[in-house]
Amino acid sequence: MAEVYQASTTAPVNIAVVKYWGKRDPKLNLPTNSSVSVTLSQVDLRTHTTAACSSSFSEDTLLLNSSPQDVSGARTQACFRELRSLRAALESSNPSLPKLSSLPLRIVSENNFPTAAGLASSAAGFAALVRAIANLYELPSSPTDLSCIARQGSGSACRSLFGGYVAWQMGSKVDGSDSVAVELAPASHWPTMRALILVVSAEKKGVSSTSGMQITVGTSELFQRRAEVVVPKHMELMTKAIQERDFETFGKVTMMESNSFHATCLDTFPPIFYLNDVSRAAIRVVEDINRKAGKIVAAYTFDAGPNAVIYFEEQNSGLVAGLFKSALGSLDGWQGRDIEVQEATDVDARAV
Ligand code: ADP
Ligand code: DP6
Ligand code: CO
Repeated sequence: MAEVYQASTTAPVNIAVVKYWGKRDPKLNLPTNSSVSVTLSQVDLRTHTTAACSSSFSEDTLLLNSSPQDVSGARTQACFRELRSLRAALESSNPSLPKLSSLPLRIVSENNFPTAAGLASSAAGFAALVRAIANLYELPSSPTDLSCIARQGSGSACRSLFGGYVAWQMGSKVDGSDSVAVELAPASHWPTMRALILVVSAEKKGVSSTSGMQITVGTSELFQRRAEVVVPKHMELMTKAIQERDFETFGKVTMMESNSFHATCLDTFPPIFYLNDVSRAAIRVVEDINRKAGKIVAAYTFDAGPNAVIYFEEQNSGLVAGLFKSALGSLDGWQGRDIEVQEATDVDARAV
C-alpha cells in the first residue's frame, strides 16, 4: 500500500480591533488599509486541521466539519500552489526527500465554533490549513512567510499565525510580498487582557466578508474616508495604546473602529446589516458598564456578523462579565468564559 504522510496543527481565531475591510487587489488579497487584532486562546476557539498526502489519493480534497468543500477556488489554489512550490524547491536541493510536492492533498478540518458567523473562521481556518501543509512538507518558513501565504486564502488569516497583539501591514508592493503580519506585542506584555464572546447567532451570515467588502469598495464614499483618514489615525492610537497597556484608549478606539466599519456597511449600496437588535443591546450593556465604572473598562467589537466580542481586563471581570454572564452562565464551553490572549503558536513536529 502507498505510504500516507500526514501532519496536524491547530490555529486560533483573532478578533480585529482595527478592522480590515476592502481589497486593493482582490486576486492577491491585498488590503486597502492596515489592521490590528488580538489572538484569542486556542484553549477555547480553534481550528484543528490535518493535512495528508499520498499517491493513493486521486485528487486534492478538503473536508470541513465533515462536509466536502470546493478546493478549485483561486484562494485555496493559491495556498496549495505556493506551499507546493516551496516543497519542490526543498526536494530539488535535497534529492533524498520524498517527492511530496507532486502528491494529491487530503485536508480534514474541524472548527469548534460557528463557521462563517463573524467569529473569524476563515482566519483560523486558513492559518491552520497553511501551517498543517507547511508541517507536512517540513518547510523551514517563518510565521511571517506563512502569513503571506495564508493572506491569500483569507486576509484575516495572516494574523492568526501569531499569538498576542498582531498588525497586518498593508504593504505597498504590487506583488504583495510586504503585505504580512507582524507581532506588535506578545500575550505576556498585557497579561490581564480578556475577551468574552456573546454568540447572538451561530447561523451562516447572509453576505460573506469577501463579497461584502467588494460591494463596499465599489459603492461607499464613507469607505474612502475611512481608509484614508480614519484607519491611519486609529492604527497609530491603537499601536501606542497596546505599547502602553492603556485600556481606555484601547477600548475607545476598538469601539469607534467597530462603529466606523459597520457605518461603512450601512453606507454600502445595497446596505449590509451585520448587527441586529441583540447586538445593539450588547452595545448598550457595555455603555452601562462604562457609565457605572466612570471610565472605559469594557469595549465591544463586532466583525462581519452579529456576534459580540467584549474586551476587558481581568480586574474588572466581576463588573464586566457579571452582567453578560448572568445571561450566559448556563452555557458550556468557551461561551461565558473569560478568554485569555494566545501565546505564540509553534510549528508542530510532523507525524507520519
Ligand atoms: P468568518 O466571519 O467566519 O471568517 P467568512 O465569510 O470570512 O466568515 O469566511 C467563511 C468561509 O471560510 C467558510 O465558508 C469557508 O469557506 C472558510 N473556512 C472556514 N473555516 C475553514 C477551515 N477550517 N478550513 C478551510 N476553510 C475554512
Ligand atoms: C470584519 O479576512 O474574512 O473580520 O480576505 O475576503 O477572506 P477575506 O475576508 P476576511 O475579512 C475579515 C473582515 C473583518 C475584519 C478583520 O478581521 O480585520
Ligand atoms: Co473571515
